[in-house]
Amino acid sequence: MKIDVLTIFPEFFGQVFDFGIIRRAKLAGIVEINVHDIREYATDKHKMTDDRPFGGGDGMVMKAEPIFLAIEHLIGTSDRAAYPTGTRVVLLSPQGRPLKQTVAKEFADDATHIVMICGRYEGVDERVNETLVTDEISIGDYVLSGGEPAAIVVTDAIVRLLPEALGSETSAENDSFSDGLLDCPHYTRPAEFRGMKVPDVLLNGNHAEIEKWRREMALLKTKKNRPDLLEGENGERER
Ligand code: ADE
Repeated sequence: MKIDVLTIFPEFFGQVFDFGIIRRAKLAGIVEINVHDIREYATDKHKMTDDRPFGGGDGMVMKAEPIFLAIEHLIGTSDRAAYPTGTRVVLLSPQGRPLKQTVAKEFADDATHIVMICGRYEGVDERVNETLVTDEISIGDYVLSGGEPAAIVVTDAIVRLLPEALGSETSAENDSFSDGLLDCPHYTRPAEFRGMKVPDVLLNGNHAEIEKWRREMALLKTKKNRPDLLEGENGERER
């Protein structure tokens, strides 16, 4: 998989993709991640990437042209219908479709080239959205000062799901959300720490009982912290 990030703050990304699973995936050749400065695609002498909004109002709007030029450079076309199979252009914005584990999985399974556009200021000229973008994604119902942290979140969520990214010792199968529930609690040595004991069931080696306990704990945690995950589409209880 190839991921290209378009931003006016390339330095923001620093070493963020150089740790843990993402670093390992890069070194193993599972993913290539490149960060590009949108300003390099600005054509006027001041290298402007934003301008005042038509119709008036506060803030600045990111210009369409530098983003179109960047996409043409990275994908070879700005005609969305002509993008090669597996190409996705993601606009990070609070107006987007919410990021879910299922969305990350869909990208991990289907995409081979993802270009992420990090919006700033009051937004991005809507012609970018209308013409270039295949997926507008939000990482939650709050407003960040830019799409950069969201691009990092989306990249991490996708890359760790790529086949072989996690390595053999771990698996995404037991992650929170993979079965619609939050993950169960975990413990490691010592079995007693400052008087706090690890639940007995985890120490007795009975795998069927351990599985049952984990499922019960996952359900309890989900009921407490995310009861919405237990509601069906029409609000009925599914579990
Ligand atoms: N840019 C600003 N806020 C955002 C959000 N919640 N998700 C994605 N991109 C954003």
